[in-house]
This record gives sequence, structure tokens and C-alpha cells, in this order.
Amino acid sequence: MDSETTLKTPVLVLGATSLIGRHLLERLKAEDLDPFAISRRPPQVGDGGGEACWLDGDLKDPRLAEHLPAVATVFSLSPIWLLPTALPALKARGMVRLIAFSSTSRFTKVDSPDEGERSVALELAGAEKAVETWCAEHGVAWTILRPTLIYDEGRDGNVSRIARLVKRFHVMPLSGTGEGLRQPVHAADLAEGALAAAHAPATRNRAYDLVGGETVTYRVMVDRVFEGLGKRPRSLPMPVWLFALIMRLAKPFYPGATTAMGTRMGQDLTFDSGEAARDFGWAPRAFRPRFQRT
Ligand SMILES: NC(=O)c1ccc[n+]([C@@H]2O[C@H](COP(=O)([O-])OP(=O)(O)OC[C@H]3O[C@@H](n4cnc5c(N)ncnc54)[C@H](OP(=O)(O)O)[C@@H]3O)[C@@H](O)[C@H]2O)c1
Repeated sequence: MDSETTLKTPVLVLGATSLIGRHLLERLKAEDLDPFAISRRPPQVGDGGGEACWLDGDLKDPRLAEHLPAVATVFSLSPIWLLPTALPALKARGMVRLIAFSSTSRFTKVDSPDEGERSVALELAGAEKAVETWCAEHGVAWTILRPTLIYDEGRDGNVSRIARLVKRFHVMPLSGTGEGLRQPVHAADLAEGALAAAHAPATRNRAYDLVGGETVTYRVMVDRVFEGLGKRPRSLPMPVWLFALIMRLAKPFYPGATTAMGTRMGQDLTFDSGEAARDFGWAPRAFRPRFQRT
């Protein structure tokens, strides 16, 4: 690995209220980098967020530059499709280095039976290309990080949603036997990884897939959630058609429920983070979530 560089300041975090944001702000503060953070709803004083100087701003605002401080390094944790139109404002305020999160969904949702998911995949891929091209043309060193499924106990909409269902129903239905492979990655590891990537010269103008420290089947992932709640695993395999029917009936109560979720439980959604390990020491934790049990 190339030797570490000093991160150029000032540092700005977009999407700082996201799952990764809290952890990244803590780490930046611990390195005395005193970040600026942007949100459409900045936290109030006494409501957390003491690790940053918060700015009230919308990335879609055509007058964004007027709301921004001088910046050098930008971490983008908001959806990457918001970035292309915001890049000129960020550059106008001094951006020379960009670390932007995208998602492995750009690959896994391309062939989804759900039209909304297919368009997310297209938007992610299009935004990545736009960011790469614009940065290359304007002298900004870019790094794109694509996590798999992100979790952060009690906060995310993936693993923590399973935990909420388990707490409520004490059983978790599976579409088929849930043999599709998953690599859940912790938000705190992604914050550490983003900072390590920003420090490592080898990451300039490259994209990385970031997976968790363990590859498990969907069923084992659910078992670990039970264990994290102090419960004996009780998943309920069922025919794919029956699970799809339940998802359709559940949609009014759980708007995020789609039949595509069931289809995916049998599919392997795996990636390789070997290049990230080589270039910036990516070494995430194994999947052993721990939840509040009350
Ligand atoms: N969740 C996952 O499992 C997952 C998996 C792979 C990749 N990712 C990627 O990882 C990153 C973090 O994911 P996440 O799920 O925690 O966050 P997210 O829901 O994708 O993004 C939420 C963040 O984006 C900000 N944001 C949204 N619209 C904005 C706008 N118009 N102007 C300014 N800020 C705006 C929000 O800020 P305010 O609401 O405070 O304004 C919030 O901080 C994202 O890039 C996401 O695509 C997520």
C-alpha cells in the first residue's frame, strides 16, 4: 500500500444524518478534522451532532454554493444520484478530493422484477459515470465506495427491520429456504473505511465494492438476528408463491414490502473486497449484531 497522505481540510460531509454519517463525524472529530456537515434538517443543539458544524442545505438547491463553506475534501453519504448537479457548487467552494458512496445495488437490482428497483440500479450506474467523468474533467480526485447491505443495530431498514419483525412476531418467514448469500456490512466499518480510503493515495480515481466480514446465507443472517436479540432462531421456510402473497397482503402495513424481496432471498448477492483490502486495509467485522432486548 502507498504511504498515507494527510487529508486536505476543510472537510465537508454530505448526508451526515445517514447511517454512516454519525460514525464518520465521530472519527473525523477524533482526528481533529472538525468537519462541516450538511442536512435539510440539521440536529438541534443537545440532540446529538456535536461532532460537526452543521449547515442547513439541500443538494438540489440551484444556489447551493451560497450555502457552502470553503471545502477541500468532501465525503458524500447521500444518494449518489444527488451528486452530479451539486459538483459545480462543491468545486466552486474548493473541492479537490471526493469520497462518494454508491451501492452494489447498481449490479444486483439491474434484473429485478420490480420496476422501481431496476430504475434505482440505472440511476446509481448513471450517477457513478457522471461523477467519474466530471471529476476527471475538473481535476477532482474521486473514490467511489459501493457497500452491500448496511446495518447499524436499531437504525437501519434491513437487518434492524428483521429484528423488529422478530420482536413482534417471534418468528421470521422465509421465501424458500433462504439459501441466497449475503455480506452485511456495519455502518461504523464503512465510516472507518471511507476515512482510510481518503488517506490512501492508491484509491484515487477508483471504485471499490465493500462487503462485510462474513458471507452467510439469508437464513443464517436471520438466525444471527434472533441470537442478537437473545432468542432461539425460529425462521419459517415457505413456498416462494406463498411468501409473495404475504408480501402483497402486507404492503399496506409495510410499504417497503415487495415481492422482489422474496425472489432475492434465494439469490447470491456477493462481491469481493480484495482490492479494498489491498489499497486501504479494508477489514470489516464478522456479522454478530447485538440488539436492545427490551
Ligand atoms: N442502506 C443501505 O443498505 C445501503 C446499501 C448500500 C449503499 N448505501 C448507500 O450508502 C449511503 C448511506 O445510506 P443510508 O441508507 O444511510 O442513507 P440514504 O437514505 O441513502 O441517504 C440519506 C441521507 O441523504 C441525505 N439527503 C437526501 N436527500 C438530500 C438532499 N436533497 N439534500 C441534502 N441531503 C440529502 C439525507 O440528509 P437529510 O435528510 O438530513 O437532509 C440523509 O443524510 C447512501 O449513499 C446509500 O446509497 C446504502
